[in-house]
Amino acid sequence: MNTECKQQMVLILDFGGQYNQLIARRVRECNVYCEVKPFNRISVAEIAEMKPMGIIFTGGPQSVYGENAPTVDQALFELGIPILGICYGSHLMAHILGGKVSGCVISEYGKTETQYDKSCVLFGTGDMPETAISWMSHTDYVSELPEGFRSVAHTAHCPVAAMENPEKKLYAVQFHPEVNHTEYGVAMLDSFVKNVCGCTGDWTMQNYAGTAIREIQSRVGDGKVLLALSGGVDSSVLCALLSKAIGKQLTCIFVDHGFMRKHEGDEVEEAFRGWDINFVRVNAKERFMEKLRGVSDPETKRKTIGAEFIRVFEEEAKKIGKVDFLAQGTIYPDVIESGAGDAATIKSHHNVGGLPDCVDFKEIIEPLRMLFKDETRKLGQELGLSDTLVWRQPFPGPGLAIRIIGEITDEKLEILQDADWIFREEIAKAGLDRTTNQYFAVLTNNRSVGVMGDFRTYDYTLALRAVETTDFMTAEFSRIPFDVLATCSSRIVNEVKHINRVVYDITTKPPATIEWE
Ligand code: XMP
Repeated sequence: MNTECKQQMVLILDFGGQYNQLIARRVRECNVYCEVKPFNRISVAEIAEMKPMGIIFTGGPQSVYGENAPTVDQALFELGIPILGICYGSHLMAHILGGKVSGCVISEYGKTETQYDKSCVLFGTGDMPETAISWMSHTDYVSELPEGFRSVAHTAHCPVAAMENPEKKLYAVQFHPEVNHTEYGVAMLDSFVKNVCGCTGDWTMQNYAGTAIREIQSRVGDGKVLLALSGGVDSSVLCALLSKAIGKQLTCIFVDHGFMRKHEGDEVEEAFRGWDINFVRVNAKERFMEKLRGVSDPETKRKTIGAEFIRVFEEEAKKIGKVDFLAQGTIYPDVIESGAGDAATIKSHHNVGGLPDCVDFKEIIEPLRMLFKDETRKLGQELGLSDTLVWRQPFPGPGLAIRIIGEITDEKLEILQDADWIFREEIAKAGLDRTTNQYFAVLTNNRSVGVMGDFRTYDYTLALRAVETTDFMTAEFSRIPFDVLATCSSRIVNEVKHINRVVYDITTKPPATIEWE
């Protein structure tokens, strides 16, 4: 479902740079709605029809003189729409409008001292000084300005770190304002979208909730909607939104495979008790355990759980009979990553292994597909979801099954649930639960000798893992204070039977992954 927004919007033309999602997030942080479109999937005529308040050209890995270098039609500059070019986007603007781009004699990477001309609207706001740090990453630079432009920032090695043609509302920066290391970068983007493009900052989750609810109502009519609820942030927020929009026309199926964290299955059920929906919880632990008996290979575990999940879901869905819509919790990063722009992408259920394609439904609705994760969380708060659900850390679909190395047994599951519970409790007590992106315990299959009182023990080693990451593609291990780790270790070996050793995983991703299996 493309939740059409009547808000003012900024178009981000994607030339393949690594920070492109970040640009969109920053613009949204300014309360301005924006959409990312691959540069070659939208024509000038379509852009003219879309009527964006402004356009941002992103960075990209190529050189404007390269073979098949991404480009845009010069007519785009004739539409009178303000444009901001970033890095490759700035080269492209200069190149198309008659300037010159050359290879740097000295390339600039990383934090770079930059001199700004405060008379430029991008740099004139607030308390921004004339000299500040910007984040550079380039091997080309604008060596000759196009006609009508002037340079408004420079560094020791880059004479045009920014240029402007205010009459035509065209601006370009060599550095990356979207990256945190660029001081005042967000203020620059804010100034572009508000002072140049004239956006008023009308994108709020309160507005969005109202619009989305009305649109769901008109699309669904009196139809029936089915949702696989995992208890994760996205499906929970979607459940709340659909509940407000269509109430009992919605049926949520929550398949509890038994590998949730301690008390979590009950917490999910509790969270939605009293909501105006049909809520079905399927306690299927025995079925999953049965299928996993003797399985210790990680991929086989994942596949077995994914397949069984679909089977259980389908069985339950059949009891409901024909539904009109299947709701999916797809969010914007998935849409951007798929490169699909606005083509409907059927994402495999993000918390399990695939889509229940035997369920009889007519259409898919994806009301969150234009939201980033932080916006999804804000929407959840707006809709009255509990903090526990809104701030839930990511949790893999196969759950604790892939955090128990080797074969899964009831005993191991219980040990892990108890240890993980203590770790989470201590992280929250230390106030680290909102800053650590993911943290959990892993029950290794390793046993070692220990001593407890006068007795020798031969018990399991538990590993603790905590990471800092923005995209989960790369991660740093969290620098949790030793005191906190010491408390966790001491509590776990004392309170959880059969663990006599606790280790902390200090590997980054790559080369390790976040999960152990
Ligand atoms: P890895 O271990 O690949 O994990 O570094 C990256 C992120 O993905 C989560 N993850 C999953 N999420 N279903 C999911 O919904 C899965 O099967 C799955 N496996 C890993 C992992 O928890 C981390 O956040």
